[in-house]
Amino acid sequence: MEAVVLLGPPGAGKGTVATVLAENGYRHVSTGELLREQIRLQTPLGREAGQLMAEGKFVSDAVVVGMIRGMLEPSATGTRVLFDGFPRTLVQAEQLDDLFTILGGSLSAVVLLECPDEVIVERLSGRRTCQKCGAVYHLKYNPALSGERCDSDGSELEQRLDDRAETIRERLKVYAEQTAPLVDYYRKKGLVRAVDATQSIDNVRHAVMELLG
Ligand code: AP5
Repeated sequence: MEAVVLLGPPGAGKGTVATVLAENGYRHVSTGELLREQIRLQTPLGREAGQLMAEGKFVSDAVVVGMIRGMLEPSATGTRVLFDGFPRTLVQAEQLDDLFTILGGSLSAVVLLECPDEVIVERLSGRRTCQKCGAVYHLKYNPALSGERCDSDGSELEQRLDDRAETIRERLKVYAEQTAPLVDYYRKKGLVRAVDATQSIDNVRHAVMELLG
């Protein structure tokens, strides 16, 4: 297994870049999506995670690493995995290293999407998501052709609970405290490739594809 980590603040465009990489052979693993699936299924984990996510706080390292471990074991060899939203704490990063040791994989790059807070607030407040398939739109930068419905399946678009203004502020604070230190962690390993994520969607996707060859 060869893996790439997409790192960057909430709303920097990780999911948007991931869709293109998924079309180019990467297996897209988004811990946010995995957790939202648990919320949709109304599992005990989903109920617990939903509360934390609505407040902009992180789900515990043990729960998140457990989910990742469960996903990776069946497909350990010959795959290219793209982690989106994981790892998000130093503990998660260290445990991912341990998983690679166990499974025989390695991290080939950490793509850092750099984006200032004011751009993030505009992106998150204008984001709309398909409640059925999870497709992501933006009212201004990536509108659905049909306005308020998903282009793929016609389902209604909705605003994520954690995209409310007060929750966005909390998410940015938590990112700065708990996730930003990962940049140094991976810089020391020589893995960080920074991209200016304030560019247009097409330009950011192109830049990331170039970086990853
Ligand atoms: P998660 O779903 O991972 O959220 P996030 O990291 O906060 O990232 P987002 O999905 O909000 O943004 P994104 O960077 O993917 O941007 P997007 O492409 O959508 O996690 C949610 C929650 O789950 C966390 O807060 C936490 O509670 C929990 N969780 C998840 N993983 C965890 C973990 N490992 N440990 C603990 N807890 C965890 O783009 C945003 C908008 O901008 C869209 O509308 C898009 O169309 C638009 N856009 C994108 N790129 C551009 C561009 N270049 N120009 C203009 N508009 C753009």
